[in-house]
Amino acid sequence: MAGTRILTLNEVIIQKQSAFPYAKGELSRLLSHIGLAAKIVNNMINKAGLETSIIGETESINIQGENQQKLDVYADETFTKAIQASGLVCGIASEECDEITVFDDDLSRDGNYVICMDPLDGSSNIDVNVSVGTIFSVYRRTTPHGQKVTKKDFLQQGNKQVAAGYIIYGSSTMLVYTTGLGTTGFTYDPSIGEFCLSHYFMVTPKTGKIYSINEGNYIKFPLGVKKYIKYCQENDPESSRPYTSRYIGSLVADFHRNLLKGGIYIYPKTASAPNGKLRLLYECNPIAFLAEQAGGMATDGYGNRILDIQPKDIHQRVPFFTGAKAMVEKAEEFMKEFGDGE
Ligand code: AHG
Ligand code: MN
Ligand code: MN
Repeated sequence: MAGTRILTLNEVIIQKQSAFPYAKGELSRLLSHIGLAAKIVNNMINKAGLETSIIGETESINIQGENQQKLDVYADETFTKAIQASGLVCGIASEECDEITVFDDDLSRDGNYVICMDPLDGSSNIDVNVSVGTIFSVYRRTTPHGQKVTKKDFLQQGNKQVAAGYIIYGSSTMLVYTTGLGTTGFTYDPSIGEFCLSHYFMVTPKTGKIYSINEGNYIKFPLGVKKYIKYCQENDPESSRPYTSRYIGSLVADFHRNLLKGGIYIYPKTASAPNGKLRLLYECNPIAFLAEQAGGMATDGYGNRILDIQPKDIHQRVPFFTGAKAMVEKAEEFMKEFGDGE
């Protein structure tokens, strides 16, 4: 857009600050710190093919039972440090850590917020130069000031999120976030080292032509999902079917594409994973908040809005259906009719 002034992430969050008078600019400052960590991690990811010290697996297995990649650990440490340095956050729950991390230093102890994060999403894609991401979710603390936060502060329904977002390290790097006033996207310009406003008010199409699911697990899917997949594959030019199948295996990248183009992403429960694979706190709640703020929808496939689920455990998993409203509603119809049956 020739002649249009470039707006950076920091400028936009300061402008939007007036919408949160109670927050005294805190949320804005926190988002700036997250933006800084994103730049550092982005820099490392860009060099991943050259820096042999950063690609590949570590010796350890995380709480999710998955082999930790070196970049999982690097991203976790980088985001944790940047968030702690803000002084606004008193604790973090990370997909990579068994337990919550409570900040007990003078600067952070009285922070008003707690954060849940997936520091590196899609990390199995890192060694093969495929898009990965970071997902974050911000809540107000519930434990009174003066006392240490506990797990309970993190076990809040997604509808209590005050902000959520992701960074996609893709063909370009983007930061997409919401504070409940729509979904906004920024694209990283490496020549000036800034996230610049590129997608002011993201609205996902009401319906779409893309379905994203790991069809390798087909045999193990609930019958409702199998029937919905067949519906997506049927020939019906009037409703643009057959749809097209796209699956990267990085939630952030699959969701981002569908958000822009119109589509549905499904990670259902399977015979071997009775609650699905994706994590409610680190992946599904923040993505659901962004989806809804862009006019989309997110459910567990059994008629329950993701954001209304009461978490019982920080690492809890949940089946996940998200994307264009009409498509999620259609998938829900199939689930209602056929359920989990054989
Ligand atoms: P993570 O790398 O944070 O563990 O997340 C991986 C997730 C998600 O990004 C992706 O959509 C999904 O796992 C892919 O799982 P499958 O390989 O089972 O399809
Ligand atoms: Mn993930
Ligand atoms: Mn991860």
